[in-house]
Amino acid sequence: MEKTFIMVKPDGVQRNLIGDIVNRFEKKGFKLAGGKLMQIPSSLAEEHYGEHKEKPFFGELVEFITSGPVFAMVWEGENVIATARQMMGKTNPSEAMPGTVRGDFGLTVGKNVIHGSDSPESAQREIGLFFNGEEILNYEKNDQNWLY
Ligand code: TYD
Ligand code: MG
Repeated sequence: MEKTFIMVKPDGVQRNLIGDIVNRFEKKGFKLAGGKLMQIPSSLAEEHYGEHKEKPFFGELVEFITSGPVFAMVWEGENVIATARQMMGKTNPSEAMPGTVRGDFGLTVGKNVIHGSDSPESAQREIGLFFNGEEILNYEKNDQNWLY
């Protein structure tokens, strides 16, 4: 089953949004395969956001994402990568639709509450950066027969 990397950013943790965000993914039907509260070291932040290294916002982005704890997760389910991106809303919260995480909770692009992998390649790379194999659980869950 497809997996994606989702992270509540430091602003989301400080604003008590972990529970709401987890709840959205649970109620949608996705299955939590891993999760942890962590402080991201600068080296990991720079690697995670490596595609943006040359962008003018890179420095601030790394500073922000390392400014406090994040809640890192792996979610599993059919088409979870693209569906999670839809549930997050557009990168700039001012353009994100109501009903999306960023549309409901964000105001500015610099503090947009949530990260989610944008492709299968990104998902595999980001899950590998943030989680060890033993931190990703494969377990039976009895709602699955009612979803698929
Ligand atoms: P990006 O990968 O383009 O967005 P997304 O998080 O939706 O995949 O950018 C990564 C993060 O960089 C984004 O969540 C917020 C930050 N960012 C800025 O601070 N300024 C910007 O102009 C952009 C495009 C992104
Ligand atoms: Mg991105």
